[in-house]
Amino acid sequence: MPKLTVTDTTGKTATLDARTGLSVMETLRSNGYPVVGECEGSLACATCHVIVDPAWADRLPEISEKEEDMLDTVFDLTATSRLCCQIIMGDQLDGLAVSLPTT
Ligand code: FES
Repeated sequence: MPKLTVTDTTGKTATLDARTGLSVMETLRSNGYPVVGECEGSLACATCHVIVDPAWADRLPEISEKEEDMLDTVFDLTATSRLCCQIIMGDQLDGLAVSLPTT
């Protein structure tokens, strides 16, 4: 089972078991993290914004134009921001690390 490391807005880090085939958004929500995910993964909200550890940024699937457009609407955009409903966990992402944005 791939692991997902998450740092919350207080700076607390935890490592979660992530089921293969589920998105990072689903993994975070099922573990009680406050990721809204209003549109349930249809790239219409950007309420699933996370900041990916720079060491992992280039190892994720390429960002789509639609995801990029939605990311442009987030307040605290960073160079490694992604919408976590678009990141599907699997063995290739074992150890992925993300942080929750503060706003
Ligand atoms: S849940 Fe809406 S864009 Fe990710």
